[in-house]
Amino acid sequence: METISRTKVVDAFDAALYGKKINVKGWVRTRRGNKHVNFIALNDGSTIKNIQIVVDLEKFDEDFLRPVTTGACLSVTGTLVESQGKGQQAEIQADAIEIYGGADPTVYPLQKKGHTLEFLREIAHLRPRTNTFGAVLRIRHNMAYAIHKYFNDRGYFYLNTPLITASDCEGAGAMFQVTTLDMNKLPRTEEGAIDYTQDFFGKQASLTVSGQLEGELGAMALGAIYTFGPTFRAENSNTPRHLAEFWMVEPEVAFNEIKENMDLAEDFLKYLIQYALDHCKDDLEFLCEMYDKDLIDRLKFIVENDFVRLPYTEGVKILEESGHKFEYPVYWGADLQSEHERYLVEEHFKKPVILTDYPKEIKAFYMKLNEDGKTVRAMDVLFPKIGEIIGGSQREENYDKLMERIEELHIPMKDMWWYLDTRRFGSAPHSGFGLGFERLVLFVTGMTNIRDVIPFPRTPKNAEF
Ligand code: 4AD
Ligand code: MG
Repeated sequence: METISRTKVVDAFDAALYGKKINVKGWVRTRRGNKHVNFIALNDGSTIKNIQIVVDLEKFDEDFLRPVTTGACLSVTGTLVESQGKGQQAEIQADAIEIYGGADPTVYPLQKKGHTLEFLREIAHLRPRTNTFGAVLRIRHNMAYAIHKYFNDRGYFYLNTPLITASDCEGAGAMFQVTTLDMNKLPRTEEGAIDYTQDFFGKQASLTVSGQLEGELGAMALGAIYTFGPTFRAENSNTPRHLAEFWMVEPEVAFNEIKENMDLAEDFLKYLIQYALDHCKDDLEFLCEMYDKDLIDRLKFIVENDFVRLPYTEGVKILEESGHKFEYPVYWGADLQSEHERYLVEEHFKKPVILTDYPKEIKAFYMKLNEDGKTVRAMDVLFPKIGEIIGGSQREENYDKLMERIEELHIPMKDMWWYLDTRRFGSAPHSGFGLGFERLVLFVTGMTNIRDVIPFPRTPKNAEF
């Protein structure tokens, strides 16, 4: 038989192909029918839509079709016709079927529909084959592409910052160590400390929590850069919004002050959400229908409304005066919890909020000190359902002030000399922020647990797949 090159299912719903012979390949979602005809719903991952294969049992032997069960992989050649059944735009009348691989129905875990998300987390190796994870992963891809497109179109350069580092950018001490030392036979100094000079890098090294410090070096040379890569945090927070391995997008721009930084964050988020509305319609409609009826309206609302911009001090006042009972106390100087952030966004303003000018004690060493000597030019973007989606700031560009902060916080100078050099040679105002990529995907898909928007989540006690 002649071989026909494969058509992706996403391209098969095309009236121009009606009456033509095509080949599709994919995985069986369902098979049903009677003694005369069978209907196979085939999905190849290119779209949420299945294509219906019509199998005339006069042409195919029952025994041959026996392995065609949910999960099996097939190659099907036949004529594409406009579908008679409602809901289907096109179907294939099969002439030839090749069975690539069966999926024993007594053991294949994705037999029926309606598995819980919790159960699917236990089979993370197979869950991409469900409608939900297909939709989430396609949207995730589209968001990654849109991030590169946004920055490329605006003259930003993609800078690859190291994953292995000797410095703790956020100063939170929540780093995973990288070592080749033998854990059972650690070399010791005379004082009894571990002798890291004998380790692979000749010093203690870790996985990075952020590409920002190196990103700043790039911005002070190329003008505007962004990073987009994995970051690692060993914080033991088992929440629906934290991962131990997550992806972060970090633009850094020379000459931008806090105002331009906020403008960039707002424009960037709106662009990404609009991109999803424009390019992920089928998947969003599916998620909207299955999980969250307000999803598409919520996305449109973000694009159409200005974000509120509010100093931390005023935010705390609103929370104190709200009369709302919070689990964690709120007072000036407190690090806001997700419940506080969500109260401001969901109850009080009913809009995204950019909170600025936080007390210096609860923010990282590199943020620019305000005239009041108490607050820094930080900016957190707070979103409905998510809380903090972006964290950023204008950076302290003054050598002496930065040095003072480094000393106050006892940050080891041996790790920081190269960073300080940007303030010694041609220093300038500059700003940037970090967008948690999974928090973005969480917001755009309407999912509620961050473990469900990354293919292989890394969380405390979980690194199976
Ligand atoms: O607020 P963070 O800690 O900021 C930084 O790391 C800065 N260096 C960024 C910068 O200015 N270039 O993290 C930035 C964002 C958060 O707003 C949040 O969206 C996300 O990263 N994030 C996490 N996402 C998932 N799991 C975690 N454990 C996260 N920690 C932070
Ligand atoms: Mg933060």
